[in-house]
Amino acid sequence: MLALPIFFNIKNRRCVVIGGGEVATRKVNMLLKASAAITLYSPEICHELADMVTTGDIQYVHAKFELSQIADACMVIAATNDEAVNVAVSVACKAQNIPVNVVDAPDLCTFTMGSIIDRSPVVIAISSEGNAPVLARYIRTKIETMLPATYGRIASIAGEFRDAVKAKFPTTQARRRFWEGVLQGPMVERVLSGQEQAARELLGSLLSDADATANKGEVFLVGGGPGDPDLLTFRALRLMQQCDVCVYDKLISPEVMELVRRDAELIYVGKSRDQHTLPQEEINELLVKLALQGKRVLRLKGGDPFIFGRGGEEIETLMQHGVPFQVVPGISAANGVSSYAGIPLTHRDYAHACLFITGHLKAKENSKELMLDLDWVAMSRPRQTVVIYMGLVGLKEICEKLILHGVAATMPVAVVQQGTTQRQKVVIATLADLAEKVVAAGLKPPCLTIVGEVVQLREKLNWFEPNTQKAE
Ligand SMILES: C[S@@+](CC[C@H](N)C(=O)[O-])C[C@H]1O[C@@H](n2cnc3c(N)ncnc32)[C@H](O)[C@@H]1O
Repeated sequence: MLALPIFFNIKNRRCVVIGGGEVATRKVNMLLKASAAITLYSPEICHELADMVTTGDIQYVHAKFELSQIADACMVIAATNDEAVNVAVSVACKAQNIPVNVVDAPDLCTFTMGSIIDRSPVVIAISSEGNAPVLARYIRTKIETMLPATYGRIASIAGEFRDAVKAKFPTTQARRRFWEGVLQGPMVERVLSGQEQAARELLGSLLSDADATANKGEVFLVGGGPGDPDLLTFRALRLMQQCDVCVYDKLISPEVMELVRRDAELIYVGKSRDQHTLPQEEINELLVKLALQGKRVLRLKGGDPFIFGRGGEEIETLMQHGVPFQVVPGISAANGVSSYAGIPLTHRDYAHACLFITGHLKAKENSKELMLDLDWVAMSRPRQTVVIYMGLVGLKEICEKLILHGVAATMPVAVVQQGTTQRQKVVIATLADLAEKVVAAGLKPPCLTIVGEVVQLREKLNWFEPNTQKAE
């Protein structure tokens, strides 16, 4: 983010506009909407501005730009067609720390106003940080169509009840919960259809009927998919926006984390192979504790919570404590990663079955030594695809054991690192040379391994090109 979006209260405050043409008029109109006290300096002004001077909406001083004009201004807008004047205004304002906007000259500005959707008191501003104003306007048009013109009325009516809601619900969490319920209910429809008094009455009765002491804690066990945020389900996104606290794993991509409600408390419980930030039992207990505090807990897991995700154990503990929960499936790494690598997991000619296994190393009984405990016979059957989760460390041994159990050393294998993201890397090899190639490519977890004839289809079907620039 190059600039911080803020909403600046300029009501009755001195705002200076330099310039008297059409562009200046547009800016003046915008400032007037925010009830600014505008003084405009220019050697000449257009008819529209002259009318505003007559009606007393703005003050006009017939003058060329001078330093003294910006004194005591809370903001200055330069809208002249004289570049030297625009530069002079910018330099003078910057020297005095006065916010300055020079129309169509982002380098001379210390603030810009973005593309605005006005549903006062709801106001939305969109900025492309000067890169693509047309795109910003396009986005504005899209949002405009989603927000009926009367939306601002909802905010005004909510404002009337603000103090009463505050008095009834002692915590911000409870207040937010109340408003979320109201905004998803029939009150909104009443306002939109013009029945404002009925909407007020409904809001009043919702407020008096609400139980301010009820414990509304619950857990959303949500699959966050393999990394690309576009692979989230609608339900996942909705719940991500509703949570009070988010308990998340190492596998959740930064792009997916971006979509969690901004104000939610974030608790990292990430696990890597040899470093468990929180043991599973403690994660289970943490979820119970947070829910019993009345919080809406988002338990965000990579991929699908029920595929090598220990989601079952978490909800078992929730059930034991009577904590309400819901489970939202996610796209598992096998599905997402294989699709983005152009490798269909089944295919009429090559594979009629698909096996998901975990290549996680386990400690031998009474020893610290690690070993792979896999069903090699099942994994070595022909005409199937084997997908191995968490297998990077044991990869060499997996390949050797598969060959030992009769799989051809030439069997194609793919290892995909951070699949579906802009950081995706794919290594294609055979069982014989895979381990070596993976080391040479410097792959790091998370990686998914796909073993089977289907891997050769990638040559024809590869479609996803990660944008390496975006990945950096
Ligand atoms: C603990 S398992 C969790 C699997 C998850 N529940 C799922 O359904 O995808 C973690 C393993 O999933 C695989 N994985 C998850 N996301 C991945 C990605 N974007 N690219 C490659 N492998 C991934 C890796 O093998 C990683 O070690």
